[in-house]
Amino acid sequence: MSSQNIYILGIESSCDDTAASVMHNGKILSNVIANQKIHEEYGGVVPELASRAHQQNIVPVVHQALKKANVTKEQLNAIAFTRGPGLMGSLLVGTSFAKSLAYGLDIPLIDVNHMQGHILAHFIDEEGYEKPPLPFLAMTISGGHTQIVKVNDYFDMDVIGETIDDAVGEAFDKSGKILGLGYPAGPEIDKRAKLGNPKAFKFTKPKVDGLNFSFSGLKTAILYFVQKETKANPNFVEENLNDICASIQHTIIGILIDKLKKASKETGIKHIAIGGGVSANSGIRQALKDGEKKFGWTTYVPKFEFTTDNAAMIAIVGHLKYLQEDFAEQDVVASARLKI
Ligand code: KG4
Ligand code: ZN
Repeated sequence: MSSQNIYILGIESSCDDTAASVMHNGKILSNVIANQKIHEEYGGVVPELASRAHQQNIVPVVHQALKKANVTKEQLNAIAFTRGPGLMGSLLVGTSFAKSLAYGLDIPLIDVNHMQGHILAHFIDEEGYEKPPLPFLAMTISGGHTQIVKVNDYFDMDVIGETIDDAVGEAFDKSGKILGLGYPAGPEIDKRAKLGNPKAFKFTKPKVDGLNFSFSGLKTAILYFVQKETKANPNFVEENLNDICASIQHTIIGILIDKLKKASKETGIKHIAIGGGVSANSGIRQALKDGEKKFGWTTYVPKFEFTTDNAAMIAIVGHLKYLQEDFAEQDVVASARLKI
């Protein structure tokens, strides 16, 4: 098998983004995403609407990815798809599509764990991007996940910490909802936090053993705080919005950095990579930079388009599995709770 000329089509449909990407020898040729706007009015992802939108989007998105890459279906060496974790209805669309395409083209099918995708996105060949050396710590933070993973090798990973309730992105989004912000609220909280005082209000950090996280208590604390303050001053939120956002963001970052510090100390690993939509947050990026000076970390933050849900990260896992000839059978099934 030639390792010189490998074309992989990656397909991602685990949540609310339908995405396809074509990769050549570890380099991205195209990375197409159809975001589903429909969920905004509901303030969160509605699973049934998500799977219907995937059904509408998947053919045009794959078509566009091939076209942008200037690659024909016949040139593809394998089809990689997200098998899980994620929303079952959404996963089924990508899984069925990938299976049929691989069968029709008579090429290998490669099943991908979405969480490994977020982590292995750091190995996409990008000019000027230094890949983390093994072993390293990966923190995946998004609307659906919060995990710290010890990455020993591409396919040898230990989850050493994860959330026991809400994901960190949910903490941003649910806090934003309490403040009357639109969905998703993370980017707006980030923007306002830059204009506010992070020490204006104090929210207690949850006490969770080990390297696990909890964010649901914070959301409740913010709700009670806002209710109490608006009783005294009905304009409290609008008069203090930037300070409230800065204080919430400061608390969330504190929680994440505390656990990273602990994980780094316990494992002795100072190479730290982050991924997931929340890694776009300017406060967390700054806190990681500070960690380089304070704790001797080397930090790795991939390009934004590879941190939010995307198919390039699925294609890179496909590429690495292709090199190991680790293929799936046609009877592979989607798995909503797939573990690393
Ligand atoms: O990875 P992603 O696009 O989708 C999944 O959830 O898998 O992440 C979306 C999450 C949302 O919760 C959103 O509010 C959050 O990432 N987010 C941010 C920022 N940009 C996106 N949170 C804080 N600060 C940001 N700048
Ligand atoms: Zn994700």
